[in-house]
Amino acid sequence: QVQAFIFDLDGVITDTAEYHYLAWKQLGGELGIPFDREFNEQLKGVSRMESLERILALGNRQHDFTAEEKEALATKKNEHYKELITKITPADVLPGITEFLRAIRAHGLRIGMASASKNAFVVVDRLGVQEYFDHIVDAATVANSKPHPEVFLRAAEVLGVPAEACIGVEDAEAGVEAIKAAGMFAVGVGTKEAMAKADVVVAGTAELSYEEIVAAFAAHTR
Ligand code: G6P
Ligand code: MG
Repeated sequence: QVQAFIFDLDGVITDTAEYHYLAWKQLGGELGIPFDREFNEQLKGVSRMESLERILALGNRQHDFTAEEKEALATKKNEHYKELITKITPADVLPGITEFLRAIRAHGLRIGMASASKNAFVVVDRLGVQEYFDHIVDAATVANSKPHPEVFLRAAEVLGVPAEACIGVEDAEAGVEAIKAAGMFAVGVGTKEAMAKADVVVAGTAELSYEEIVAAFAAHTR
């Protein structure tokens, strides 16, 4: 029996995955390390410093900077990002999400958030969706970045629900891996290729159906 849903934020609740991409792309451009959306799939769900490391490795520049310089580069990206998210309003909640959250609530299930972002509370606040979440776990309280399961396990723990009774919702490869490593049922939002390890895949948030997902969970668990 499913007892809780645990949502990723960026790219699931709102399209901040695009803002992270644009902010990294700008920094990449400044460093002379261009990259495309396909490479960006590897950055989704991954912490700020780990994302920077992956971009520097792509350009073979990982040894060109001191730890302090890397901190400064990550801060620079975050400044671009913070500028982009000032524009967020409740109209930026992705299609179908509010209805989906209401359906989960109507069935008496708990709702948590597992985000790798240190900006999660600011984004949730700007979207005005905090009322739907019983608990939000953000990057500040976890030691290990997705694909490590820590952030999902921590969310289940504070919700007081066993991992096997949770359904995780993600748009990142690293995020789906984290959900599966936590022993949860995974819903992937995105392409079949990127979401290959998810138990259920939908192309977009508008296709998230409470009935279909819970039926798939029941069939999987039986
Ligand atoms: C989320 C996003 C990643 C981002 C990470 C850290 O997981 O999907 O793209 O790098 O959070 O975000 P932050 O806001 O802390 O830099
Ligand atoms: Mg995401």
